[in-house]
Amino acid sequence: MDAYLFEWLNLLGRWVHLITGIAWIGASFYFVWLDAHLHAPRDRDEGERLDLAGEVWSVHGGGFYRAQKFRIAPAELPEPLHWFKWEAYSTWLSGMFMLVLVYWLGADVYLIDPAVANLAPAAAVAIAAVCLVGGWIVYDGLCRSRLGKNESALAAALLAGCSLAAWGLCQLFSGRGAFIHFGAMLGTIMAANVFFVIIPGQKELVRAKQAGRVPDPIHGLRGRQRSVHNTYFTLPVLFTMISNHYASLTNHRHAWLALVGMAVAGATIRLWFVMRHRGQSRPALIAVGVASIIGTFALAMPRVDAGRTGQSSSGTPDMAAVSAIVEARCVGCHAQRPTWPGFASAPKNVLLDSPDAIRRQALAIHQQSVVTKAMPIGNLTKMTDDERATIDAWFRTLGSR
Ligand code: HEC
Repeated sequence: MDAYLFEWLNLLGRWVHLITGIAWIGASFYFVWLDAHLHAPRDRDEGERLDLAGEVWSVHGGGFYRAQKFRIAPAELPEPLHWFKWEAYSTWLSGMFMLVLVYWLGADVYLIDPAVANLAPAAAVAIAAVCLVGGWIVYDGLCRSRLGKNESALAAALLAGCSLAAWGLCQLFSGRGAFIHFGAMLGTIMAANVFFVIIPGQKELVRAKQAGRVPDPIHGLRGRQRSVHNTYFTLPVLFTMISNHYASLTNHRHAWLALVGMAVAGATIRLWFVMRHRGQSRPALIAVGVASIIGTFALAMPRVDAGRTGQSSSGTPDMAAVSAIVEARCVGCHAQRPTWPGFASAPKNVLLDSPDAIRRQALAIHQQSVVTKAMPIGNLTKMTDDERATIDAWFRTLGSR
């Protein structure tokens, strides 16, 4: 595809995805907040007459609002009745658009890392698709099984399942590919919860109401369980969406553990907020969240000798040697006019096309090509360990000067 057009599709897709994601998560956070702040109706008679579960008064944007929650449903279904579903669907659709555009069409650059698993692009994409669908099937099966009736057992099973998925994905894909597919898997589960469980359940409520039947409570219970799960998946998913630019985590030897650590942090911190909304203080939750982040920080900390290959090249490498390596391995992409197919401009605006530019960006070059080995991306230009050792030795002489 024309690289310039590709860049635009990427830009527009990302913009839409961000906007729809904000709308979805914003609405979801708002309703979780609303539910947690319900109090007994001020007007007791009205509360009894309408069979209210509670109400919330709020002020926003120069107006006062009063939201009421019905125990089951209002006597008459009002028109219009607003549903919240397109936020979820459009977030998932735009997310899939980005996943296909960046990671599936660009599998050789972003999804495959030959040092992890030397997959053919078609095989990598097929595995990725199976993971997304499989994740939903396993999750949905767990929720519907007997285990699904026991909240703590289900939570433990989900944590084990997510850890297994994180580990498995890291054995198959590049670090960033594994992280984003972990997030896409959870995001798919969240959107599928809305599409297959929550919305059909609400439709059944409406139908029962219209037919004058008493609705089967299983729909309400199931919908509630899935909404609760979606709440706790939110922060881990958002983490994976931004994780791709942090190679210290995604390219670490124990990247899967870092992913689990941050996912646990996200889920427990969200749980802490939800409890707080309900007026319950649970310091242990925030402690677990913060400890998970600190643990991940310590786990992924680069070791002092990180990247050293042992066979450091003889003598002190000079600028000419380093320039030659960067020219051969990096400049195909990191130039004003990249020659590598698919790149319209230098990625992240990082230009490495002159000795001066190389010297100025020594720290970033060392970090990316020696410490995390995130560059060259997918090792597409086949940088050798010897060359990484040369960069390392050169970088260390800069520090000692
Ligand atoms: C095939 C193309 C390609 C090659 C070759 C390549 N890079 Fe990159 N580089 C990228 C892409 C794509 C990104 C943006 C990654 C992202 O979005 O996080 C990037 C980002 C970077 C960044 C910015 C990282 C950040 O997160 O701020 C640096 C520094 C970098 N590359 C250095 C190098 C070095 C040094 C080499 C050679 C050893 C190299 N790159 C080779 C494609 C390439």
